[in-house]
This record gives sequence, C-alpha cells and structure tokens, in this order.
Amino acid sequence: MTQRPIVGIVGAGQLARMTQQAAIPLGVDLCVLAESPEDSAAQVIPGVFLGDYRSLDDLRRFAKNADVITFDHELPDPEHLAALAHEGRLLRPSPLSKRFAQDKSHQRRMLALRGFAVPPFADVTEVGQVEAFADANGWPVVLKAPRGGYDGRGVHVVADAAQAHEALALSDGPLLVEAKVPLARELAVLVARRPAGRAVAWPVTETVQVDGILRELVVPAPIGPARRDEALRLGARIAEAIELAGVMAVELFDTGDRLLINELACRPHNSGHWTIDASATSQFSNHLRAVLDWPLGDTTPLAAAIVTVNVLGRADGSDPADGLTAALSDPAVAVHLYGKEARPGRKLGHVTALGDDADEVRERARAAAAALGEPLDEEMP
Ligand SMILES: Nc1ncnc2c1ncn2[C@@H]1O[C@H](COP(=O)(O)OP(=O)(O)OP(=O)(O)O)[C@@H](O)[C@H]1O
Ligand SMILES: [Mg+2]
Repeated sequence: MTQRPIVGIVGAGQLARMTQQAAIPLGVDLCVLAESPEDSAAQVIPGVFLGDYRSLDDLRRFAKNADVITFDHELPDPEHLAALAHEGRLLRPSPLSKRFAQDKSHQRRMLALRGFAVPPFADVTEVGQVEAFADANGWPVVLKAPRGGYDGRGVHVVADAAQAHEALALSDGPLLVEAKVPLARELAVLVARRPAGRAVAWPVTETVQVDGILRELVVPAPIGPARRDEALRLGARIAEAIELAGVMAVELFDTGDRLLINELACRPHNSGHWTIDASATSQFSNHLRAVLDWPLGDTTPLAAAIVTVNVLGRADGSDPADGLTAALSDPAVAVHLYGKEARPGRKLGHVTALGDDADEVRERARAAAAALGEPLDEEMP
C-alpha cells in the first residue's frame, strides 16, 4: 500500500461524510462512489466519482482508484463484490462478511447454524405460511424485506392474516417472518477488527427506537455486568465468525431473560455516532485503521454519561440549519448536521452530550435535537 493510502467508499451518505473527519488527521485520502454531487459525503470529500453502485462497470472503474474499498451502505450486489475481489481488488469487509449483513434471511440462517440465538423465523411467500408460523409462535408477527430495508422501512408488524396478505401483496419477493419478541430494551455492540484478528469493542450502547427508527443512544447501557459481558462476548464471537475487517455493529434484543441477535451491519453504524465526541477513538477512525490494517485506537469513553439524539426532519419539512444557533447555545452539546435535504422523518443529523449525570445529559441532548428537528415524544423512556 502506498504511503498515503486511498480508501474508496461505495456510497456517499452521512457515514462516508463522517469518515472524512477521521481521515484528515490520519493523512488518508478518501474517494466516494456517489450518485450525485449533492450527496452528503460528496459535499465534503474532494474525490467524488459519480456513478451507480448497482452497475458492475461503475464499481470497476471506481475501484481502480483506491487501495482498499469499503462501504457506506449494504446495497451493492454480492455478485458484483465477489467479481471485484476475484479481479484482485481489496475489499474490506470482504464480500463474504458483507453478505452476512446484506440479507436478513441469510443472516438469520447462518447465525442460527453457528449456534447464535436469534428470534424464531421463516421465509414466506404465501399467507398460509405466515398463518402456520403464527400458529406456532403467536400473533402479531413481524414481516421483513430480507434486503434493502433501513430505518424500519420494510419492517411490518402484522396482527392477522389479512394484514399479512397486504404486506405480501406489496412485496416483490419472499419475506422473512419473525416472532415479535418482547423487548425489555435494545442494545448495540460495536466492534472494530483488523484482518488478522486483533479486535476492540466500545462500551455496550442502549438504542431507543420509535416506530422502527433509532432516536436515542444511551452510553453506557443501563444494564448489569453479566448482561454487558454477554453482549460483548457475542460481538467478539460474531466478528470472528464472519472474519470481520473493519467496524461492525450488532443490534441485540434484550428480552429481560436473554439476548437475541437482531441484525448486523458491517460498517460504521448509527449506534456508534456517540464515539465521535465521547470516545478516545471514534468508530470512523477505527474503521479506517481496521480496513488499512493499522493499529486500532483506544475505545475508552470520555465521560460517565453520554447521550446521542438523532435529528429527524420535521413534519413541515423545515431545514435543521434554521435551528442551528439555538442548538449551539448549549456549549456542552456537539452538533452534527449531514447536509441532506430536509424531509419529514429523515435522519438529518445528531447531537451528543456528555457529563456526569445521565438525566442531565439526556435533557441537554434532547433540547438541542428539538431545536433542530422533530422533538422526541414526551413519553419516551
Ligand atoms: N422480531 C422483532 N420483534 C420485536 N421488534 C422488532 C422485531 N424486528 C424488528 N423490531 C423492531 O423494529 C426495529 C427495526 O427493525 P430492523 O432492525 O430489522 O430494521 P431496519 O430497518 O433494518 O433497521 P435499521 O434502522 O437498523 O436499518 C428494531 O430495532 C425493533 O425495534
Ligand atoms: Mg436495525
């Protein structure tokens, strides 16, 4: 690899944008495969290659420019990634581990085969199969598109056969059906791993979702040491099992009795955004170090209590930048805006507060986020 390496990122969303912030001090050059010059990362990274991640030709032309290729999202065709690897391009994570994170159905099967605990699941194409699954596991059930979902899009909680029929009619392929798991809380484990195996993890994070969309992160998660260690062990075992190179987030369901794996993302993840301002090393920095096979940075948190709140677009479509000076009036809150066009419910940024007292920190973060976007429901836990 050259002295001044070039890391190519397929996709130019906010994850690639925040990676630029980590690339600068490391002297790493980034280039992004963007769909438009307006993409979140294309606004801040000089190396913009306009193209379509669905096209193998575009991927090939893009990959020529980089020493190592990594990803902003889960959408590239696994066959295309395998072709690039076959042609000698260095992909981190590898096409095999990427495939784990791209297809929820494949992921469930592979994890279950390796003895990891996942919710009861089945692949379905007809309503009769959903009914049979519900006979065994009870209504409601959760129907999911195996690929392409994000922020709860493609996830439907269905209460009966009629609703299942509707969801199936709208889908253009088989769906994954799952038992609706009773949730005490949701957790995420974030791991960075070098290709030869050295790995680090950040403290376990509580993720609070509303209507399937991540709203708030609480670090450390308010769980006991046994549950925390179990979550960290799961993260480490999965990183090994998929031979991870880079950063991975494991989303976990805590049922109160035990942990079940919800899903993996083989890339920096929203659950790790707090690490930018409140960890010795951010997930973006460690992702770059890991994909370049460089020594990983310290993951110690910088405060006893850390809360990140996502900024979601307001119903009236107003720009979060309109509220920027109000949000900045609290000097202890870090504000991140992604430069994306404002749309109702869209993730447009996040804010992080850190300090000694979890309640106070949460209040500050929520107030700043409310100055920028849709306020959190008063009834949030
Ligand atoms: N089997 C289930 N039982 C209970 N709740 C579920 C189940 N599956 C999903 N959920 C809820 O819906 C949320 C979104 O589901 P999932 O993580 O599968 O979707 P996604 O759109 O891929 O999410 P992301 O925003 O992480 O990309 C979960 O975080 C959880 O709150
Ligand atoms: Mg998820």
